[in-house]
Amino acid sequence: MTRINENYLKLKASYLFSDIAKRVTAFQEANPEKSIIKLGIGDVTEPLPAACREAFHNAIDEMGTREGFHGYGPEQGYEFLRKAIALNDFQARGADIDPDEIFVSDGAKCDSGNFQEIFADDIKIAIPDPVYPVYVDTNVMAGRTGANIDDRYEGFVYLEATPENGYIPAIPEEKVDLIYLCFPNNPTGATATKEQLKMWVDYAKDCDALILFDAAYVAFIRDESLPRSIYEIEGAKEVAIEFRSFSKNAGFTGTRCAYTVVPKDLKAVDESGTEHSVHALWNRRHCTKFNGVSYPVQKAAEAIYSQEGKKEIRSLTDFYLENAKVVRSAVEALGFSCVGGDNSPYIWVNANRPSWDFFDVLLNEAGVVTTPGAGFGRCGENHIRISAFNSRSNIDEAMKRINHALTAKA
Ligand code: MLT
Repeated sequence: MTRINENYLKLKASYLFSDIAKRVTAFQEANPEKSIIKLGIGDVTEPLPAACREAFHNAIDEMGTREGFHGYGPEQGYEFLRKAIALNDFQARGADIDPDEIFVSDGAKCDSGNFQEIFADDIKIAIPDPVYPVYVDTNVMAGRTGANIDDRYEGFVYLEATPENGYIPAIPEEKVDLIYLCFPNNPTGATATKEQLKMWVDYAKDCDALILFDAAYVAFIRDESLPRSIYEIEGAKEVAIEFRSFSKNAGFTGTRCAYTVVPKDLKAVDESGTEHSVHALWNRRHCTKFNGVSYPVQKAAEAIYSQEGKKEIRSLTDFYLENAKVVRSAVEALGFSCVGGDNSPYIWVNANRPSWDFFDVLLNEAGVVTTPGAGFGRCGENHIRISAFNSRSNIDEAMKRINHALTAKA
């Protein structure tokens, strides 16, 4: 019989959010009369901005004409979108990124999961803990780790984010080759200052490492002193790849559009020490395995950079941040300490008890779904993540129910 890739056997049986969905379905089947409010997976709930819908409609109408029809587009994305991204997300903030350093794709999950493919099997990888599970699982699938022992894969260098360090991991003492970072962080909602990012960029330069920087939640930053992109840090273009997404700022989780920045200055070496362009390798991989995002979706994404689009995504992200404030103050009023929710849609709650137990209490007693911190790694134990992506009425109702469930129990 055909043999499998045995690295898959090292993975946990199912992906975190599938695991939670199974528990929620089982609970709903056993309690059909109970209403459930989902503040678990970070999926947006509010409608697509009008500017995006209009651009989407117009592009579909164009596709219905012989002159305006589009077949396969450029794998890297249409020039109109790459130019709008480079100008608005980077050049406007003093980061010198060129449109042809941008690769448009169907999701930051795919890009942050796939990027590791272009590196050697035996590189040393630094992974945050807690962490978005995609970075871990894709490296396990690729065979870069040993077994999982006590919720830790052999072979990774773990960057621990704990209450003691304010959930900002320290630079490792040893040298690594590849570093995953995410700010504003998923799951903790913590943010990094320019000085903190500079330390990572300097460390990467010192050890000839590359940084995979996930900035999917950047649109939630309101603190003007915080960097929006790693390329605002001097020298980052020589060491960092950045992932961005239209999912959380413009409500594209179901529409699918994202992009990855791969500067042309980035180099990695082969076994003999000869340098190669990371941009060229990623371009080769992208063109082989990906055929581009559809024309109407790219037109809809471009619309967020119009004057109207900018206003609409600002009010969309303001709306979720207001939800986050409601969640954070309700949870703090119950005596829990939290991070996130101010420049991020996630609130990371120190539950002071096993996270799956707390998840079960909130599901069973309040009908509210959260994400147990242990699902994000060993340092996530005793925490839960609450997502602010929902309607205001559901957020208010969820906080009322949690308050009732926890104070009635006390
Ligand atoms: C999350 O809940 O962590 C996110 O929705 C996951 C994702 O964006 O893929």
